[in-house]
Amino acid sequence: MFSLNGKTAVVTGASSGIGRQQCIALAGAGASIVLIGRRQEALQETVRLINERGVATGATAHTHVVSWDLTDRDTLQALAAACTSFSGGIDILCNTAGINHRQAAGDITYESWDSTLNLNLAVPFFLAREFIPHMQQQGWGKIINVASLQSRQAFANGLAYGASKGGIAQMTRAMAESWSRHGISCNAIAPGFFPTELTAPVFANPEHSDALAQRTAIKRNGDMQDLEGVTVFFASHASDYITGQILYVDGGFTAL
Ligand SMILES: NC(=O)c1ccc[n+]([C@@H]2O[C@H](COP(=O)([O-])OP(=O)(O)OC[C@H]3O[C@@H](n4cnc5c(N)ncnc54)[C@H](OP(=O)(O)O)[C@@H]3O)[C@@H](O)[C@H]2O)c1
Repeated sequence: MFSLNGKTAVVTGASSGIGRQQCIALAGAGASIVLIGRRQEALQETVRLINERGVATGATAHTHVVSWDLTDRDTLQALAAACTSFSGGIDILCNTAGINHRQAAGDITYESWDSTLNLNLAVPFFLAREFIPHMQQQGWGKIINVASLQSRQAFANGLAYGASKGGIAQMTRAMAESWSRHGISCNAIAPGFFPTELTAPVFANPEHSDALAQRTAIKRNGDMQDLEGVTVFFASHASDYITGQILYVDGGFTAL
């Protein structure tokens, strides 16, 4: 039920943090992986980690690195073609690349607003749309977006980021409305606080990160491995009747 043997997954944000962990999890479940990010060396490091896990588990992963800047929307069609050339068809898309400029409302510029809303919200839609025809044709596919605590509540200096993540939650439901009749599940993972490059400013202040941990029911922030099960679940047949959902992987932060 959780096997991804024979499936191909595209993961954006594969060069670090959550996207990297998703690559390791999906490859561990048997998927071939197309890794997207700008930093070639960091993408290769993810491949190394995938193979390291494979040595431990006896699995052999097929990987394909595509170094690409997602901000240029005019090139997304070409990117999709580059991904598809690896395997013939993409079964799973993890829309994980994202940025957070952490600006006070008064400091937000048109440029910082646009770059946030473009990468965090527009790219997940337009990239997903490129892979829909193949998924539709085979009657099965998985779109996995990344939402946030800021999809439902406001944090300081999170206005543009929160707008993008509120949008992701609603867009996930709208994707389900558009595409799930063709067998395509569209869901979002909403992580609590996980230590990545994006959240480095949060974890650089132990008092602040400890206070956030105390706001969870479990009384700790996320470990990267906490994201593996949910990723494989949303990517596999195990979740075939689940769509349009936002699953908070937050230690109960939003339960309190
Ligand atoms: N960490 C958390 O606690 C947390 C909580 C809630 C939601 N999230 C969400 O999780 C997702 C991943 O975040 P993360 O924490 O893993 O952050 P991260 O470690 O900073 O990773 C961000 C990824 O996005 C990629 N990226 C950024 N700009 C790009 C561009 N122009 N073109 C292509 N790729 C680009 C980066 O790759 P390159 O730099 O190589 O291009 C990197 O792989 C984001 O959507 C974030 O909003 C994270």
